[in-house]
Amino acid sequence: MATQTGTFQAIQHDGEPRANAIRERLNAAVGRGQRTYTPSQLTVEKAEGCTLWTVDGRRLLDFTSGVLVANLGHDHPRFEALYREYAGALPRNAYNMVTEVEVLAAERLVNSMAVSNPNAQKVLWGASGSEGIQKAMWAAQHHQPGRPIMLATRYGFHGKKGLAGDVTGSESPNPNVRFISFPMKEERPRKFYQDELDALAREFPDQISLLITEPYLGSAGSFHPPRWYHEMLQAWCNQHGVAFIFDEVQACHGRTGHMYACETYGVQPDLVVLGKGIGNGEPAAAVVGRADLIDAMDYSEASDTFSGNPRACAAVCAVFDVFEEEQIVDRCRAAAKRVSECLHALRDKFPFVKDVRGEGLVYGVEMENAEVANRCVLEAYYGTGGAGVHFLGPLAKKVLRVSPPLVISDREIDEAFALIDTAWARI
Ligand SMILES: Cc1ncc(COP(=O)(O)O)c(C=O)c1O
Repeated sequence: MATQTGTFQAIQHDGEPRANAIRERLNAAVGRGQRTYTPSQLTVEKAEGCTLWTVDGRRLLDFTSGVLVANLGHDHPRFEALYREYAGALPRNAYNMVTEVEVLAAERLVNSMAVSNPNAQKVLWGASGSEGIQKAMWAAQHHQPGRPIMLATRYGFHGKKGLAGDVTGSESPNPNVRFISFPMKEERPRKFYQDELDALAREFPDQISLLITEPYLGSAGSFHPPRWYHEMLQAWCNQHGVAFIFDEVQACHGRTGHMYACETYGVQPDLVVLGKGIGNGEPAAAVVGRADLIDAMDYSEASDTFSGNPRACAAVCAVFDVFEEEQIVDRCRAAAKRVSECLHALRDKFPFVKDVRGEGLVYGVEMENAEVANRCVLEAYYGTGGAGVHFLGPLAKKVLRVSPPLVISDREIDEAFALIDTAWARI
């Protein structure tokens, strides 16, 4: 049973003496605005593959990949060895220096994306997804400085900082941002979305510099559009000279069943923003796209201390090696089939599970309401016999995110769903 104590209400759970003490100290030492609310507040001692061990000795299967970051799982032996090899004796940071590993990482990103997207020509680095978004938007603005208007799909999440925050959600503090509809539950005919875009083109002739969207709406509760939607956005952007920016910060590197989500959706964006999984946990993000947009920025206009540092780039290279050696994208597709079947079985069994939406290894499981959704997270966390399943706190209040590492085995999938089945039967 979860209880909260003290002025700042540290989360506490029965039978977790070590975790409870750490959570109390966390509460005293770190602002709680630092993290999103997760009712379990799992306190981890060790992580390996798809398994997390709590400080009180329980074992949990990770259905989050550390928020879609550890696509190769935790402490992957081959990744860690390659990472050390690439990082070698390089400096910890190379702000205003050059290391070859940066060039190698950029070339690998460009070459891997150029197979399906000829606009993948050059890279800008970030140390977080929102930095990548900011830099992609800067590139589009610098390319066409006379076009102040920016379009974004409503209810998207692109980060909290700067321009990324301005194009997140449904209202913006930035007077130059306009939101357009994204197909969610109420998918409308194609003409509805097309008309909306055409009306904006008439209202702002030659004033729109960019359109930013996510492949699927993640934080809004996992809404995965039909293919024609992104194709339509791209065609409209091409027609009006607007930079089409695809935010793959959480969808990249195999998550949707292809290396890149722009492949899954059959589009060739002008700029693609990658984050989370590209370094399997090292803080790395990148914009990959048209050289004329990226080269619109001169020395220092997109620079900062940590972006493209040698260790981040070593991680990017090591991730590529492991993806190739272990055919991670194929493994993701195979696991996706099993996970999807198991999720639909839960929906058929438990009346409080209202919907299952997703693709590849990223799903949203919509629950009856927020209370049930939080209870599902907690019951899965408590599990049975010292084992459980780790979920994030619900998205959009009542949608559970299912995004295990792409290396999850059939045995682990079966064990996780057996644990969930028993846990949710208590609700
Ligand atoms: C689609 C998307 N874009 C951008 C971001 C922001 O990334 P970061 O938190 O690394 O700044 C996120 C983070 O969750 C995301 O999911």
